[in-house]
Amino acid sequence: MNKRWQAVIFDLDGVLTDTAEYHFRAWKKIADAEGIYFDSLINERLKGIDRINSLEIILENARRQYSSAEKEQLLHTKNEHYLNLISKMTPSDLLPGALETLTALKELGFKLGLASVSKNAGTVITRLQITDYFDYIADAAQIKRGKPDPEIFLTVATHLEIEPAKCIGVEDSIAGIKAIKAAGMLAVGVGKPEILNEADLVIADLREFMKVVE
Ligand code: BG6
Ligand code: MG
Repeated sequence: MNKRWQAVIFDLDGVLTDTAEYHFRAWKKIADAEGIYFDSLINERLKGIDRINSLEIILENARRQYSSAEKEQLLHTKNEHYLNLISKMTPSDLLPGALETLTALKELGFKLGLASVSKNAGTVITRLQITDYFDYIADAAQIKRGKPDPEIFLTVATHLEIEPAKCIGVEDSIAGIKAIKAAGMLAVGVGKPEILNEADLVIADLREFMKVVE
């Protein structure tokens, strides 16, 4: 295989399935219970960001300081809300074009990777029944520097044995697009061009993805 692009590395939440909305709802419940202002614009800054750093961003609007123990409790409760939301997921929760894209790329011989910083990614892809599509799945617990650092994308590329310049990264978050660019890969944004303005190109959803590799 000597094609311009040889691997596609996907983010999960908000790209293959709408769990970005579930993360938002779980955080909103926490923020409302604490009386902290939180809206969808602030939520854009949370996308692609791990649990503790997401909480720190939300707490920027808090009227008081939170102790480490209180933060731990909030993180635990947020994850319980989130686990509850994902517990009923099925393959029908794949976003439009996701399954078709994974299938078509596999048939064309692309290596496929998953680069999610979520510790729940394994549970989500099991429920979606897409685990077997991936040649390598990043272990969020082993990643030291979260997005926008390129570590997670570079780690996946290394395991796929494909040089970064031949990889395409697919992301719905600003932090994730920055990470892909810093890794030296082609950055495809899924969402709104005005939000993902650092991406090389932006598509509305994965139904438009195959034109990228044609
Ligand atoms: C990312 C999401 O994929 O995973 C973030 O975009 C989330 O919103 C992060 O905070 C960590 O997820 P989890 O499941 O480990 O809390
Ligand atoms: Mg995402």
